[in-house]
Amino acid sequence: MRPVSEQEKYLKSKVSHQPPFIDALEKRLLDDGKWGINISASEGAFLRFFVEVTGVKKIVEIGTQYGFSTHWLLDANTEGLKVRTIEKQKDHYDVANEYFSKLGTFEKNGEYFRSYNLSRSGSLVSFLGEANPILQSIESEGPFDLVFIDANKGGYLDYLDWSMNNLAPGGWIVADNTFLFGSVWLEDPGDKAPKNPWKKMKEFNERLSDKQSFRSFMLPTPEGLSIAQKLN
Ligand SMILES: C[S@@+](CC[C@H](N)C(=O)[O-])C[C@H]1O[C@@H](n2cnc3c(N)ncnc32)[C@H](O)[C@@H]1O
Repeated sequence: MRPVSEQEKYLKSKVSHQPPFIDALEKRLLDDGKWGINISASEGAFLRFFVEVTGVKKIVEIGTQYGFSTHWLLDANTEGLKVRTIEKQKDHYDVANEYFSKLGTFEKNGEYFRSYNLSRSGSLVSFLGEANPILQSIESEGPFDLVFIDANKGGYLDYLDWSMNNLAPGGWIVADNTFLFGSVWLEDPGDKAPKNPWKKMKEFNERLSDKQSFRSFMLPTPEGLSIAQKLN
């Protein structure tokens, strides 16, 4: 669980410009005791910024949870955005879809307002199930421009392999939690993380740092946010 720091509150008040619709989702996450599994508002605002400045359109998100990050992606001021998001946990998927079904609207004093640019020819599909077979099933929609990885840490290497085959040259991988709870720089994860995901995350980070294949950086967010552009 990520505590909301004073820094985060400041960013939220100054630069995040969180739309009211996302406020409603934030409240739901808090009410359900699920807040903090999701990315923070400033990370969401960063994703939106990233989508806008890179011009990516075809996005795959692995790990929807309630769709908090999905809504930030969708809030990008981009024509024809296509977002595919995958979640294996039915209760998460159901809540996400409850909010996706009201997509583009938020309620204020009993009135609904459009808040997303998605209405301009974009599309969103949310999938329920294990990521790997679903990723396989959407390959024909590719190549994709961005894969946002935010699911089971032991699966990151599989998601990287899939991204290598299904991202367009110049496409992007953004992956959350790549510090693996502050364990990736340790000789041994101790009680910070289980050993197998720890080994896999170290290998994931190693592969993204290969300059022949990627232009990459790890943003030092509390959990570590990796950004890598596939070079060819
Ligand atoms: C960290 S949460 C995602 C948070 C979301 N991206 C956000 O920031 O709003 C990770 C989600 O991935 C889902 N998940 C875990 N393993 C998965 C798998 N193998 N396939 C699909 N979804 C998975 C979990 O159920 C959980 O809801």
